[in-house]
Amino acid sequence: MRPVGVIILAAGKGTRMRSRLPKVAHQIAGRAMLEHAMRAVADAVAPSATGAATDDDSADDGSDHSSRSTRFLVVVGHEAPAVRAALGDWRPATGNVIWVEQPQQLGTGDAVRVAEHEATRDDAPPTILVTYGDTPLVRAETLRQLLAEHERSGATLTFLTGQTSKPNDYGRVLRDSAGRVRGIVEAKHATPDELAIPEVNSGIYAFAADWLWSRLGQLRPHSNGEYYLTDLVEVAVRERRPVATHSVALAETMGVNDRVALAEAERILRERILRELMLSGVTIEDPATTYTHAGVRVGPDTIIRPGCHLLGATVIGEGCDIGPNSVIRDSQIGDGCQAQASWIEEATMESGSRVGPMSHLRPGARLLPGANLGNFAEVKNSVIGERVQMHHFSYMGDASVGADTNVGAGTISMNYDGKNKHRTTIGERVFLGCDTLLRAPVTIGDDANTGAGSVVTRDVPAGALVVGMPARVARRVLSHGQASEDSPAPPEAQESQAQADGGAHEQPPNQSEGAKG
Ligand code: UD1
Ligand code: CA
Repeated sequence: MRPVGVIILAAGKGTRMRSRLPKVAHQIAGRAMLEHAMRAVADAVAPSATGAATDDDSADDGSDHSSRSTRFLVVVGHEAPAVRAALGDWRPATGNVIWVEQPQQLGTGDAVRVAEHEATRDDAPPTILVTYGDTPLVRAETLRQLLAEHERSGATLTFLTGQTSKPNDYGRVLRDSAGRVRGIVEAKHATPDELAIPEVNSGIYAFAADWLWSRLGQLRPHSNGEYYLTDLVEVAVRERRPVATHSVALAETMGVNDRVALAEAERILRERILRELMLSGVTIEDPATTYTHAGVRVGPDTIIRPGCHLLGATVIGEGCDIGPNSVIRDSQIGDGCQAQASWIEEATMESGSRVGPMSHLRPGARLLPGANLGNFAEVKNSVIGERVQMHHFSYMGDASVGADTNVGAGTISMNYDGKNKHRTTIGERVFLGCDTLLRAPVTIGDDANTGAGSVVTRDVPAGALVVGMPARVARRVLSHGQASEDSPAPPEAQESQAQADGGAHEQPPNQSEGAKG
């Protein structure tokens, strides 16, 4: 394939969205519309993309067009900073993005014209691909077909069309009785007969570059002051230049102009993503109630039950059982995991770990293999060790819990003293009795036990049993397997309770002398 220059139009306000946010910054399946549009273009023209540009066999001299990186000219104007920000960190794998300002939004013809200076620099490619930022569903494969058709036919201008019988505001494709293209008429200027034409313009064009730049100046403004890029079709026809079209299902080239179309585009893209997942071996019990962002990866033989939202950069392994009703965002889930009716955000579940029902993994939560959390467990910025059992109403924040530890019902790490967060370190094989409160910073040694209702304000040695408030050592393991009984210490001054993360401020505690023995 010949090298291609790329121009993406994204300067319009998108009045019909009725939004503070510029139209192309609105998200579909977790990505800005502009990003979707640009990913398709980048895939289509990337030298490395499968099937793209691979037939250029002169690519090894290092000086030909195909080895030069593509420049993606994005025309911005209305709320330009917000449009730039909408692209986030994403950039094409090869080539670079160049932002071009359109000072006044004088129409799609004017938008391409402002890109001329950048597009004709150096040894500019002979073909220019123009796409619109509000056309997020077009696939790279379709763009490649359009470019191939453009090259094959030798047309001056090749554009993508779709078919629809529903009322719509697309430009209608006018053809003569022999089926040759005559022009494009915008819906708002069309006669009733023209409005009845089912073939519509998708807003994606391949132009012979020299012709494009020499003819743009011939465009004249319409009554609304706008220069229409679409008028170039008529210019080419008048000059008897070859004009070609390539047709695809309208669902793929739909332009998003309002929130109704935004929801429709979301639905179409979601169906596409779910279909790909299912074909790759994932069971989706109910596609109608499963919500996935583009880029989410799921391994084969995983079952996604109804009501799940798989969002952001989430990766789920093989053989997992997810849902019903789980929300998983930007998280890594290993193989053979379960997540029932839980929220999992920026968290990691290693293989064979389980969460739910009704639990919350917050950013930085990491469950090691076989860890098992459920029934209103909350974990934030904590490592939960292998085979840890934490089943009822517990919170671990800024903590690490060693392997095989049992976290009794209602156990809470009090990680926040009203000003700072502190860490809780719990060893292996620890048994935390019901309603243990752990006032951070605090360390519990391996094999230690806490009695029910203990308020642990001091480090607990390995193998010790602590009880009470504040918790004191009741028994200590002298050597392996041997225990000594201590007489319980007298009650200390009231220890006020620090609050768990997010609660009210802690009162300064009366420090007790700690345990005897
Ligand atoms: C346009 C086409 C129409 C086609 C439809 C397909 C024209 C005149 N009409 O109509 O034939 O059926 O797309 O979706 O091209 N933009 C700028 N600068 C401007 C104006 C627009 O960059 O001055 C950008 C917008 O941000 C948008 C794109 O160009 O991404 C299309 O503009 P829009 O106003 O949405 O055109 P439509 O009315 O949808
Ligand atoms: Ca549009």
